Amino acid sequence: MKKYFLIGLIFLIGCSYNQDKRFEKNIVIGFSQCTMIDEWRKTMVEEMQREISFYRNYNITFIVKDAHDDNNQQIKDIHDLALQGIDLLIVSPNEAQQLTSAVEEVFDKGIPVIVIDRKINSSKYTAFIGADNLSIGNEAGYFAIELLKGKGNILEITGLGGSTPAIERSKGFHEIIDKYPEIHTTKIIEGAWLEEKTMKITDSLFYAFSDFNLVFAHNDFMAYATSISAKKHNIKSYIIGVDGLNTPKGGVNMVLEGSIDGTVLYPTGGDKAIQLALDILTGKPYEKNTILSTYRIDKTNARTIWLQGEQIRSQQQKIDNQVSQLDTLSFSLRRQNSFLLLTNIIIILLVTIVLIIFISLRHKNRLNKALDAMNQTIKMQNTIITKQRDDSMNLLIIAEEAKETKMRLFTDISHEFRSVVTLITNPINSMIASISDEAVINKLEIVQRSTERLKRLSEEILKFRKIDENKYQLKFYSSNIASFVLNIVETFHQQAVLKNIKLVTEIPQEIYAEFDLEVVEKVMCNLLSNAFKYTNECGTITVSVKLENSKICIKVSDTGIGIPENELLYLFNRFYKVSNSMYISDNEGTGIGLALSKELIQLHNGQINVNSYENQGTTFFVTIPQFHVIVDRDQNVKSIKPIGVKLEPLQNHNKEKTVLVVEDNSDLLAVISDIIGKAYNVITAYNGKEGLIQTKAQFPDIIVSDILMPILDGMQMCIEIKKNPSICHIPVILLTALDSQETTLKCFDIGADAYITKPFNEFLLLSQIKNLIDSREKLKATFYPSVFAKDIFKTKDFTDKEFINKCVDIIYENIENADFNLDNLGAKMNISRSSLYRKLREISNLKPVDFIKKVRLNYAAKLLLTKNIPVNETAWRSGFSDPKYFSKCFFQEFGCYPKNYNDASQNKNQTEISP
Ligand code: FRU
Repeated sequence: MKKYFLIGLIFLIGCSYNQDKRFEKNIVIGFSQCTMIDEWRKTMVEEMQREISFYRNYNITFIVKDAHDDNNQQIKDIHDLALQGIDLLIVSPNEAQQLTSAVEEVFDKGIPVIVIDRKINSSKYTAFIGADNLSIGNEAGYFAIELLKGKGNILEITGLGGSTPAIERSKGFHEIIDKYPEIHTTKIIEGAWLEEKTMKITDSLFYAFSDFNLVFAHNDFMAYATSISAKKHNIKSYIIGVDGLNTPKGGVNMVLEGSIDGTVLYPTGGDKAIQLALDILTGKPYEKNTILSTYRIDKTNARTIWLQGEQIRSQQQKIDNQVSQLDTLSFSLRRQNSFLLLTNIIIILLVTIVLIIFISLRHKNRLNKALDAMNQTIKMQNTIITKQRDDSMNLLIIAEEAKETKMRLFTDISHEFRSVVTLITNPINSMIASISDEAVINKLEIVQRSTERLKRLSEEILKFRKIDENKYQLKFYSSNIASFVLNIVETFHQQAVLKNIKLVTEIPQEIYAEFDLEVVEKVMCNLLSNAFKYTNECGTITVSVKLENSKICIKVSDTGIGIPENELLYLFNRFYKVSNSMYISDNEGTGIGLALSKELIQLHNGQINVNSYENQGTTFFVTIPQFHVIVDRDQNVKSIKPIGVKLEPLQNHNKEKTVLVVEDNSDLLAVISDIIGKAYNVITAYNGKEGLIQTKAQFPDIIVSDILMPILDGMQMCIEIKKNPSICHIPVILLTALDSQETTLKCFDIGADAYITKPFNEFLLLSQIKNLIDSREKLKATFYPSVFAKDIFKTKDFTDKEFINKCVDIIYENIENADFNLDNLGAKMNISRSSLYRKLREISNLKPVDFIKKVRLNYAAKLLLTKNIPVNETAWRSGFSDPKYFSKCFFQEFGCYPKNYNDASQNKNQTEISP
């Protein structure tokens, strides 16, 4: 099939190609004519063009240049033709000498040259074609002798002097007539081949000169001009010319009409020149010199020749018609060829498309069958997989439900455990501290350790639960992680001494980071207790902390028993227990210690890894980012400020400060009071209502309160405190077993200053208390040296800020009233004189009278800066009745007198007062 198709294709293209191949060769022939002014030359060009039309196998371009009898023009024409890239030059030179070198140049370039009619003075041409002008001169001579019967005067009118026909015709003529002594050439004039010029010469000549019997003109045109002039001057003379062109205006007709007596045929040779050119170009043999035959034409043969000419003309006409028909035909043939080619291409394309469609269809059918088979298989597999998936899903759901139930149970129990454990732990601790009986202490320590373990277990279960539910919230604190880790390590010091283990620390003094205290503590305790458990006596445990590329790197390594290689993989798996390894957990039997550590560290955007070699030791590597970074919903990484407080060392606690503890559970109240009592004075209350009363009466420096309490709960109490302008500056820390985000948010919503979950970290509670008291102190310090009232607003405590704002506003409203005092302010603020006194002093560290004075002075400073008013006016406008006293106070406050204040303030670039 394919074979036949290809053969057909080649055949069709071949046909199209053969039909289209019309020309064997492209040929360019240039013809430089000396002139085209006369009929003879026009006939020559017509003959050439007709001849060219017969050569249908060649695409011949024929370029004709007319030099208008001008030698220089003809030289230029020849150059131009050579430059145009002609294949052959035909030239009929105007004058031999002037044109010779131009023709030679072309010949020297290798372009064939045919010289026609007139010659050049060189043999550097390819071929010559023309009649023998010497013979023509001879024939004219014989003709003259016959007409004159051997006696008479002759007028010779020559062609252009430098052209070879003129020279040769004259020579040939004289060769004959000079032999007759009674024949004289009485005049020779140059007509330069031109009819008009000749007529002008003869017209004037014949006035003076008429003594001649015969005129020999070198061509028929000059002969005809002479005949006209002779007629005008009534001169009877024989006139013979040359050319014998057989056209209505030519010599033959002149003879027939009697204008001239005879002529000698001088054929143009146009057709022959083209034949010669094609022979040369196609490599056929040719003659270098082609001499065209000639004969005399007179009254005896003119008619016959004319009639022959008529016949030739009519035949030429027919030939021309046929040629034009042929042209039309070949044009339509070419069109048909193009059409055929196009048709063939379309057929080929159609056949190709049909073939492609056929092949594609066959292929598609095969594919379809294969696909059907595959589909069947896939369907079957799908059914099996779907069934398997459904089965697995069911199993998974059952497993999930079981896990969920188990976790819920654990969680519920753990919640219960936490409250109970808190109640057991603290009394036991106190008992151990107060009892001196070793045996009892030992037993109590067992209880202590067991409760500790119970506490840890329940916490871990709760943490896992939260991690599982994505509810575990890290609390980031900005603190010195190096000292934090060191403190944890130090708690293992006793254990190290007991087990005779060398505890080495490579921890710098300070590395500040943002981290969750609980996570770091939990993980460190887990890693350290593991290390202690599996390191034998005289072993070494090394803990190092480093800051590397903004990451905190903690390393805990021991020289213990190590972990078998095949178990390392499962080390961090939750609830996974490996036969030999005890590393999995620090809580024997549960297997969640390391797994929890890993989950917590991951939650902290960190990593935990292990390296271990059996009987050589184990190293755990913990890495966490130095700063806490979160990615928001728009995927923009932001650093967030740590919530919570900056932890400072616990020393410097001020026993002068008083803490109010509000807790309904008397055991817990005792425990909390114990912890806080180490550093502060403690007053207590059993519910919110009592707490509120104590606060109003005692003005504690800070309140620590439980949330869930009878009569008035912690939250309600906090709301009441924050509502009351006289006590709202007192910080409130809420303490609860509820550990949820909602509770936290609610606590902050109602204005609580901090929030701690039970069972709380003693260290954390004391740090919180200290930080809040310190920030209060800073507020006072900020206020005291401030120049402008706006500095007061720098306090972070919104309620304090509001209180101060309100006071300042009221003083400003009454600023011109010099009598406005503490009583008036208290009345406007709706609080008692004593409360106002205490609160203002608490926040600002100033006596109210000084506070009011400070505000007045700030206002005065503002007036001086902005209003440019006299000092006296400023004084009374700020509520100072005595300008001298005003100046004195102003100096004390700002270090300069009011009159200089404007300049001084500009120098200091002080800021504007904010009311
Ligand atoms: C035409 C012509 C002819 C003559 C020939 C000579 O231009 O003058 O009449 O025979 O040139 O070159």
